[in-house]
Amino acid sequence: MRKMIIAGNWKMNKTISESIELAKSIKTSSNIDVIIAPTFTSLKSVSETINNNGIIVSAQNIHPKDSGAYTGEISPLMIKDAGCKTVILGHSERREYFNESNQLINEKIKKTLNYDINVILCVGENLDQRKTEKTNEILSEQLELGLSNINDLSKITIAYEPVWAIGTGEVASPEQAQETHSFIRNKIKSMYDEETSNKIRILYGGSMKPDNAEGLLNQQDIDGGLIGGASLNPEAFNKIISLAEKISQ
Ligand code: PGA
Repeated sequence: MRKMIIAGNWKMNKTISESIELAKSIKTSSNIDVIIAPTFTSLKSVSETINNNGIIVSAQNIHPKDSGAYTGEISPLMIKDAGCKTVILGHSERREYFNESNQLINEKIKKTLNYDINVILCVGENLDQRKTEKTNEILSEQLELGLSNINDLSKITIAYEPVWAIGTGEVASPEQAQETHSFIRNKIKSMYDEETSNKIRILYGGSMKPDNAEGLLNQQDIDGGLIGGASLNPEAFNKIISLAEKISQ
């Protein structure tokens, strides 16, 4: 059975002291993986606060070079140094606002794996693409190019995040999400093999909240959630963790 993941993407929110406060209020879990992704400036303080209590600290991005003249950028070595075990890559906000291509995301993934850091690779279609029935085509492209020349997926988790559901309050129905997750799992099977596709964890992201999490998390191919807005509210985030724990029993 795949271990569930509940991951909080804090995006560009919270100062260092606020991040410490929020990190302290997150529930730890023994039967699911709990991940939080603060901003770069809070990574070290949050890692120290958590102090190996089981919660995993993630970055939200990296630059695909070790070091050098890349003003304003942060390397995988630096996030590792700050206590990160994971990084979110290819988030739709990075793709849209910072023009990140599948090729760049692929470079970032390869570099991150070199440092033995896990990756949450985000994929997802926008509203136009869904309306014109291009969802599967877009997801296939994002997976094929994003994972190009990567043979081992043991450190990779996929997050399916329909762009039209992110931060909009509009959530994919459990059936809609399950159908797409199943497509992604089959795609991984065709790119790799059955064992890899059975093992890889696929998270749903996009307006997941305590009141819709259970229906989503109960789906066969949904192995957890990548949560933005609701992860900033400890009560809501902890409720989702509890639901995932209950489903995992
Ligand atoms: P949301 O964000 O939960 O606020 O929709 C999800 C994400 O962007 O990871």
